[in-house]
Amino acid sequence: METYLTIILGILLSEVLRRCCLVLLHAFTGPLSKVPGPFLSKFTKLPWAMELVKGTHLNTVGPLFEKYNTEILRIAPDTVLVADSPSIHKIIVTDDLPKDPIFTKFRSHKKVFLNGFSPRYLDGLEPLMQGCYDQFEKVLESRCAEGGGYAVIDMANTLSNLAFDVMCATSLGGSFNLTTSNDLTLKKSLGLALKLASLQSQVPILKYVPFVADYLVSDMNNMVEDIITRRRSETGEVPRDLLQLILDANIEDPVFFSEQRIREELKMLIVAGSETTSMAVTQTLLLLVNNPEKLKSLVREIDTSFPSPNDEITFSKTQDLKYLNAVIYEALRLSVHPTVMMRYTDKPTILSGYEIPPKTTVQPWAGTAMTDPKIWPDAIQFVPERWLGEYKGAVAEKKHFYSFSGGSRNCIGQQFAWREMRLILGRLVHKYEVSLIPGQSHERRSHTTTRFLQGFYNVGVKPREGF
Ligand code: HEM
Repeated sequence: METYLTIILGILLSEVLRRCCLVLLHAFTGPLSKVPGPFLSKFTKLPWAMELVKGTHLNTVGPLFEKYNTEILRIAPDTVLVADSPSIHKIIVTDDLPKDPIFTKFRSHKKVFLNGFSPRYLDGLEPLMQGCYDQFEKVLESRCAEGGGYAVIDMANTLSNLAFDVMCATSLGGSFNLTTSNDLTLKKSLGLALKLASLQSQVPILKYVPFVADYLVSDMNNMVEDIITRRRSETGEVPRDLLQLILDANIEDPVFFSEQRIREELKMLIVAGSETTSMAVTQTLLLLVNNPEKLKSLVREIDTSFPSPNDEITFSKTQDLKYLNAVIYEALRLSVHPTVMMRYTDKPTILSGYEIPPKTTVQPWAGTAMTDPKIWPDAIQFVPERWLGEYKGAVAEKKHFYSFSGGSRNCIGQQFAWREMRLILGRLVHKYEVSLIPGQSHERRSHTTTRFLQGFYNVGVKPREGF
């Protein structure tokens, strides 16, 4: 018996030793060994995994690029972050590398949605989107009336409700009227689902205890069941919206596009289509109230285009407003930095001067690239004017703009988002004076989407005289 135990222990020990040698070899002589980065990251992904689970990577990576004076960073034994724009372009556009396998569960099937994002289809959604905004305006009106003509509005959460209602009203069979009810139950469930997804992606074994996760996010799961049941029980003509496209894909191929898949697609759409846009509009407002001169220029443009309070602000009338578009581009450049563009090398690939071997996770680090002073003069200043012509010798080029990613796997909903962002900002500053509530933290956390650490962002709101 003792001999067997000694043999088994011997085998285990030599396996551990073999693995340690492999880790050391990979760390010091492997193809990524020369890529700069924290020493520990050569051996283990633990520090990086902790950042992802805590959602702090959005804040900590920029300083690391600076510390190592590099544009490519080894952040885990088989993961590099890339911040130089030409290499990012190569990853997502020229080489069009496949998505990292971590995304297999959350990858949407773009071809299912092809008809759901055509300009004609999107234009047809305008009455539904305007209807949701009307609800938002009623909330502002009543809050201002309560406050004697002025209100402090938590724009982060109110706009998040609005974007959620817009998504459900236009694409998923009907609004949940969160803007009016301000019922935060669903949003909390959604936030928790994103944190859990982060945790599960780093500790995959947790996926095998799904009942815990299901219990924690039961509100969101029930909502998705509700959406599906409601539509399936409808008789007669149903809207040709994104929900219907998903259900039709299941009817066409129930094995590939299973019942489970329907639920995953719906959850992914709700997250991708609402939290992103609401945070983008909140960040734009944050920058405007912190830069009153830019806000004035925007109000001037809106007033010139819509001189009467009764002028209708629409998709088509806001589409070509130069300053409004420039404000949104600039706000996105400064603060909408996707951390989900992970790709995977399928062959040796040169990035930032280093040869990256196959099977490496390569993650474009858009935040650093979009604030690179070599490309953007006054890189961390809010200068919408740079999108209107030459600014300090440089012209803002959209090829260096990555908020919606790029290449064949870019954001399928970007034209939807642009219509929504222009409409919300245009209508808001037309009717209301928005102002800074000083002393608030801007610190954020990221779990797929981004949130303020303090849980809100307040803006002062007052009806404009004569409007
Ligand atoms: C300002 C708002 C938005 C931003 C910044 C944004 C950004 C992004 C980014 C960076 C990606 C990842 C692409 C990649 O992996 O390279 C993405 C994917 C996606 N977005 Fe958006 N998005 C926004 C709004 C929307 C909206 C409104 C919808 C739907 C109505 C939407 C639907 C999607 C979908 C379905 C995907 C997955 C595409 C795929 O996996 O092929 N997004 N988005």
